[in-house]
Order: sequence, then C-alpha cells, then structure tokens
Amino acid sequence: MEIHAYEKLWLALALVLIVGFIGTITYGAAGAGIDMIDDKGGTVDPATLDQHPKFGDPGIERNGENSYDVYVVARQFVFEPGTTEPLRVPAGSTVTFHVTAADVIHGFEVVGTNANTMAIPGQVAEFTVEFGEPGEYGMLCNEYCGSGHHVMEGKIVVME
Ligand code: CUA
Repeated sequence: MEIHAYEKLWLALALVLIVGFIGTITYGAAGAGIDMIDDKGGTVDPATLDQHPKFGDPGIERNGENSYDVYVVARQFVFEPGTTEPLRVPAGSTVTFHVTAADVIHGFEVVGTNANTMAIPGQVAEFTVEFGEPGEYGMLCNEYCGSGHHVMEGKIVVME
C-alpha cells in the first residue's frame, strides 16, 4: 500500500513538471524586464510590408524633443535599419521600437539593454529603451531563422 501511495505522488509530480514545461514554452521564461513576446504594437500584413507607411521604409522618426520611434523589419538575415547601416540615435533619447518580421520568426535583442523580443511576421512588438550615454550596442537575432541566423546582427550607435 505504501508503494502505491508513492507511485501516486510521483505521478502527480510528473504531471506538475509536464504542465510546468508547457507553461514555460508557451509563455517563455520571461525574467524581469524581458519581454519574450510583445504584441501590443498590433498587427501588420507581412505580404504588403513594403507598402506599409512605416515598415515600407523602416527607420527612425522623431516624435518629441528627446523621443523617437524606430521601425525595424527583421528578414533573412538582416535588420532594417541596423545591418547595412548602423541605427544612429542621440544620447539621452527615449526610443520606442516597433519590430516586425518580413519572412520567418526572428529575434530582436539590443545587447546590454532589456530589449529582447521575438519578431513575428504579422505582429508588431513594441517596447521603449532609454539610451543615456554615447556608445555602441549590438543588435542580435536570437531565434533560429535559417542558414544565416548566426550572422544576423546590426548595430546601434548612440551619438554625443
Ligand atoms: Cu534572424 Cu535568427
């Protein structure tokens, strides 16, 4: 009888683990300040992205004295802007990123900040980063997206 009770206990523990793992996969192991998936930026049609008023020619737009919007398109295997040309923002600026993907799921991480999101076709991830001091930040794709995944990167230059 005692063995039977232990078996039940282990079965229950196994169930808890399985549910826990599924929860981790679904919701992401999101730590403090890290948004794994953020779709509050709304949706966008990936098929007509190049005609979109913002994502058609993605880049930086000033929206206040020290405040900017940056539209980023992730595609195999570049960030626009960021890869061909660094994204330049002034020091002391508040930058709201709007990130989407043109083809497959990518990641968008600004190394050294809490900006870390998935870039999903059809969805716009939105988050705000403060760039205080001048410096350089790497952009990284942290979701496997194909043969060029490991070279998919960009740069942000925070100017004086
Ligand atoms: Cu894009 Cu990995």
